[in-house]
Amino acid sequence: MMDTMIKNNGPEKPRSCLAIILAAGEGTRMKSRLPKVLHRVAGRSMLAHVLAEVANAGADRIVVVVGPDHDEIAREVKAVSPGAEIAVQKERLGTAHAVLSARAAIEIAADDVVVAFADTPLISANVLHRLREPLAAGVDICALGFEAKNPHGYGRLLSENGNLVAIREEKDASDEERAVTFCNAGLMAFQGKKILSVLERIGCDNAKGEYYLPDAVSIIVKDGGRAVAVSATEDDVQGVNDKLQLAAAERTMQEKLRRRALAAGVTMIAPETVFLSYDTVFGRDVLLEPNIYIGLGVSISDGAVIHAFSHLEGAEIGPDSSVGPFARLRPGTVVGKSAKVGNFVDIKKASLGQGAKVSHLTYLGDATIGAEANIGAGTITCNYDGFNKFETVIGEGAFVGSNSALVAPVRIGNGAFIGSGSVITADVPSDALAIARGRQETKAGWAKVFRESQKKR
Ligand code: UD1
Ligand code: CA
Repeated sequence: MMDTMIKNNGPEKPRSCLAIILAAGEGTRMKSRLPKVLHRVAGRSMLAHVLAEVANAGADRIVVVVGPDHDEIAREVKAVSPGAEIAVQKERLGTAHAVLSARAAIEIAADDVVVAFADTPLISANVLHRLREPLAAGVDICALGFEAKNPHGYGRLLSENGNLVAIREEKDASDEERAVTFCNAGLMAFQGKKILSVLERIGCDNAKGEYYLPDAVSIIVKDGGRAVAVSATEDDVQGVNDKLQLAAAERTMQEKLRRRALAAGVTMIAPETVFLSYDTVFGRDVLLEPNIYIGLGVSISDGAVIHAFSHLEGAEIGPDSSVGPFARLRPGTVVGKSAKVGNFVDIKKASLGQGAKVSHLTYLGDATIGAEANIGAGTITCNYDGFNKFETVIGEGAFVGSNSALVAPVRIGNGAFIGSGSVITADVPSDALAIARGRQETKAGWAKVFRESQKKR
């Protein structure tokens, strides 16, 4: 019974996948020296986002198609995805032509070939995965469609009796076709054994005189092949052609990152005022007050509180610690467990041991602060002589009086005490007191005499 439904050939072999990311193009509408696809969203280039998601979607090989003089793009590919190959499209003749520039890679047969655009940074592995799925069931080509609020500029997905039959670019569309709001996101998945023969048949007899990748749909359908459209949301597939759209993509990405942080248990009073990076890491019970900027390379451990108006980059924030309001943590900052960084404190390449406190108006650079040390208001590490940077080491339980200048290189021993207003230029042994300031002179009655003499004049 039901013989035909029982597959008895063991676990299914995963289908091999080649991903081709199109990144050529002048991007003049960005009005920038930087190539379009290297513009950043949540701290990393659009190209890097797409590379990461394509890899997560299970691509075995990745080829990035670049223009003839785009060394910068090739460098970014090597930096974020060293295993990816580069193919050069010598002339910008359209998206189908761009894919054919990766011919050598396509000829090494893969079950699935996925084409993604590097100017579509919000694409997720999940959507790419869904785009591939129908191929396993024998479909020849899958296009990714979305309902556009404003379809202007996008290709339209045309269906007959519920079946995808063609994609029409805006410039080539009839009025009736333009009324369609189900649009082409640009990404497509192909049956690997068919793609080359189909691409070779795409012509350029259209309004732009370009080889359009979406024309693959009508060619396959006319051959009697199967084409389907998979749906995505507009947020998933937002394309970036100018700075306005870059800002829109940033907005969508920030919302996504905030939602992810909230779902992971972070508390935010006003999430819309908190800016995150793609790599921000949170523990549990972290509280973020309003108006916080978190740049690249920040991790915030369990129970830490970041108070309002703080700016963090390259910082590791320990459990149950407290940072801000108005704190600036720069790369190389490590805040230990239960340590406190207060208002108007600027820290660069410095670590605070467990329970250490630096509560107000301080600069710490190239410094190591021991556990339970207390750094008074207005303390400055003088770490730079205009040429070189020098280190300051402050021992456990040391107490640095307010308004001290610590001229590096300098070491302050465990439990040592620094008198307020000192300029410390020599090492201070453990448990010693160092005072380095003008001695106070007090003249009894002087003020009264002065006042009276002035009044008489
Ligand atoms: C393309 C689609 C359109 C879709 C839209 C979605 C085509 C013909 N049109 O239009 O149906 O609605 O995306 O955003 O595919 N590129 C190259 N070489 C080229 C041309 C383009 O590498 O010769 C790259 C670009 O860098 C870009 C991508 O392909 O990453 C898309 O090209 P773009 O010119 O932005 O296409 P759209 O006009 O947006
Ligand atoms: Ca585009």
